[in-house]
Amino acid sequence: MLDTTSLKQYLMQCERDGKGIDLEFIALIDDIAGACREIHLGVNHGAILGVLGSAGSENVQGETQKKLDVLSNDYFIKHCQWGGQLAGMASEEEDDVYEIPAKYPRGKYLMYFDPLDGSSNIDVNITVGSIFSIVKAPEGVTDPKLPDYLIKGTEQVCGGFCLYGPSTMMVITIGDGVHGFTLHPGTGEFLLTNPNMKIPEDTKEFAVNMSNHRFWEEPVQRYVDECLKGTSGTREKDFNMRWVASMVAEVYRILTRGGIFMYPKDNKDPNKPGKLRLMYEANPMSYIVEQAGGLSTTGRERILEVQPDDIHQRVPVILGSKNEVQRVIDYHK
Ligand code: AHG
Ligand code: MN
Ligand code: MN
Repeated sequence: MLDTTSLKQYLMQCERDGKGIDLEFIALIDDIAGACREIHLGVNHGAILGVLGSAGSENVQGETQKKLDVLSNDYFIKHCQWGGQLAGMASEEEDDVYEIPAKYPRGKYLMYFDPLDGSSNIDVNITVGSIFSIVKAPEGVTDPKLPDYLIKGTEQVCGGFCLYGPSTMMVITIGDGVHGFTLHPGTGEFLLTNPNMKIPEDTKEFAVNMSNHRFWEEPVQRYVDECLKGTSGTREKDFNMRWVASMVAEVYRILTRGGIFMYPKDNKDPNKPGKLRLMYEANPMSYIVEQAGGLSTTGRERILEVQPDDIHQRVPVILGSKNEVQRVIDYHK
């Protein structure tokens, strides 16, 4: 019979067991779950609700916003700003840090989020997700400004994502392993279906956007070329490849059956040392991957130890099965 532990029950048990979280934090996760439920409904109803297509606007990073990017951002803000747990938020879709309106109380946490990840997939009906990262605001700061947000990933209290796929799932870590909860579409509860997710140390599957091959650095070209040579090359085994173009879907697959995911440094645009954003994509995913026994690196540095200099900073990302990621790190040496 299905273990019907809900997300809230799991968190309450962690609080009782002294795993470093408090009721304020649990209330925040409950609000995030509320935002994700609304995004789930938008994603699921798609054209029926008229939520597909472009919003006709650009975010601060020059990317065209989809209607659902904007809506998902609004849902996160609506659900998470009122409860008094947050000192402030930073979102992919907000140019600057988001100040909690004066009418609401402020709390001790900061949240960074990507309201809709993989949004180029929304109009073609492929899995998308939301990603979030929670830290404690610097001591005594109730009105955080940009410099207060520039906190390393090692300080995260929680990393999580919600995946809107064939089923909707919330995956989180509070530093006590990685646990997956499936949304019951009838009751709206997230139920613990995938406790203690672990990434196999070895894999024969890689995920990378091959069209960027000529822009990569030599170590990544070498690694991928060796995978492509399969049994006829030095690796002496054949590899499989996947590229969903939704980081949430790739990370979930890796949590389930292993693999390596790369959005490495490239020289396509000298102003962008990678595509993915450190604070609301790479950091929470790296926390999850490490907690599941994998590794996450820029190739030269552990992602969780990168000192942020901007909330929208980009970073090269190589993560997944330990032995494969270690090989890519070694190739960078
Ligand atoms: P977002 O939709 O939040 O901008 O993020 C998309 C990201 C990530 O999820 C994915 O791995 C990558 O962009 C896909 O990039 P390409 O289209 O260059 O393959
Ligand atoms: Mn994203
Ligand atoms: Mn996004």
